[in-house]
Amino acid sequence: MELFFLCGLFLFLSVSVVSLFLLYHHTSARGQAGRLPPGRFGWPVIGESWEFMSTGWKGFPEKFIFDRLAKYAPCQVFKTSILLEKTVVMCGAAGNKFLFSNESKLVQAWWPKSVDKIFPSSASTSTESSKKLRKLLPNFLKPEALQRYIPIMDTIAQRHFALGWEGKEKVEVFPLAKNYTFWIACRLFLSIEDPIEVARFAEPFNDLAAGIIGVPIDLPGTPFNKGIKASNIVRKQLKAVIKQRKLDLADDNGKASSTQDILSHMLLTTDEDGQFMSELDIADKILGLLIAGHDTASAACTFVVKFLAELPHVYEGVCKEQMEIAKAKKPGELLNWEDIQKMKYSWNVACEIMRLAPPLQGGFREAITDFMYSGFQVPKGWKLYWSANSTHRNPQCFPEPEKFDPSRFEGTGPAPYTYVPFGGGPRMCPGKEYARLEILVFMHNYVKRFRSEKILPHEKVIVNPLPIPEKGLPVRLYPHPQTVEA
Ligand code: HEM
Repeated sequence: MELFFLCGLFLFLSVSVVSLFLLYHHTSARGQAGRLPPGRFGWPVIGESWEFMSTGWKGFPEKFIFDRLAKYAPCQVFKTSILLEKTVVMCGAAGNKFLFSNESKLVQAWWPKSVDKIFPSSASTSTESSKKLRKLLPNFLKPEALQRYIPIMDTIAQRHFALGWEGKEKVEVFPLAKNYTFWIACRLFLSIEDPIEVARFAEPFNDLAAGIIGVPIDLPGTPFNKGIKASNIVRKQLKAVIKQRKLDLADDNGKASSTQDILSHMLLTTDEDGQFMSELDIADKILGLLIAGHDTASAACTFVVKFLAELPHVYEGVCKEQMEIAKAKKPGELLNWEDIQKMKYSWNVACEIMRLAPPLQGGFREAITDFMYSGFQVPKGWKLYWSANSTHRNPQCFPEPEKFDPSRFEGTGPAPYTYVPFGGGPRMCPGKEYARLEILVFMHNYVKRFRSEKILPHEKVIVNPLPIPEKGLPVRLYPHPQTVEA
């Protein structure tokens, strides 16, 4: 009887799976007749998510894109199903231009469903909410404010190198770079500077990024489940900071000021209807900024050390530029805006690093209406994806794309819409200048003190969803000869 039941169950499951598969592919085939872009939706439900993510885990996120472009050439667009959504991937400078210049006309920002769960104050990811955040940011990211941050960043960098690097023979770079960018963010967003308090805040962040861009399966142990738990912990910590700041601002006890950081700014700014933001909304906005600005910039700083260790002639060039700046300073004098303007070669090097290892691989949009692109139909509601690698590693945009060549950024630099580590159009990263400053301040403080050698010469880079050296980039440190002499 039991055997009979098991056979029946097996037959039922087999028929269901095969029917689902056929139904799914029938739908795809019908789409083809309507001149949808070429491509396949893969498996029912999960689609091609596994291929999309596993090429990143193996260190070749561009493979997912380039395999399909080769298959459907000369088309520079293909359809797929990733992160539970039917998606059109638009490649090349033309794809980037189309998506970046049609914001709110044909497309709008969209983040995977997992993000909404991690930011439940809702709408934190919607276009409306993003506009709200963008309105708040200019004050915090305007040129005068950014200029004020340079000496603060330099002070933190000096303390960071003194605490984490100096006197050590070997270090693991990735966790240190995370400490550095997080410390700066805590200081500038929340006025938190005590390294112990910063470390307490930083801990749950490790699980956040992986939870955000992933398959939203909320089961114990999945990255998504860990991401939700981590976001709840950080939100709780942020709410406590917000409550205390409210008291300090109201008390007029001199402990807080209206201009001291982005938190005070958010607490004291009202919208068009005179409404203040709720505590949860503020916590989510700050959480969003910490995520957007922390993991991305720390990935960039990690790859600075990696590439400078691998390319001695590039290290020499950066070092020469930075030591000239350092030598012109009085003892104890901090970096300023003029110094940053002199770091031209260093910034070209950082740009080339972000071309080869873009901290964000790309971004999603949603079609807000049916439209045609490159002769293909894109149905309303489908998701769209732009990929930095589709231009960064394309020989038509960057000849000999695998070659490290900072001179690509001299003069007028790369052609429009080809170099996109910060995106483009109205959704372009609002933290671009802030990130430029913290990366340059990091480079200055690093090359002034050390050169390094990779302990694992062939360490793999994995992308999950940001690129990181698999073992955290362990390096052997050698004190910089000129600093030792000085
Ligand atoms: C190397 C560092 C960074 C890189 C490579 C980077 C890259 C990006 C990219 C590619 C986007 C998405 C654009 C799109 O969807 O088309 C983005 C969005 C964003 N970034 Fe950055 N970012 C960095 C640092 C920062 C920093 C330091 C901050 C904050 C201070 C920040 C704040 C944001 C915000 C708020 C958004 C969302 C904008 C919106 O939804 O309109 N980013 N970033």
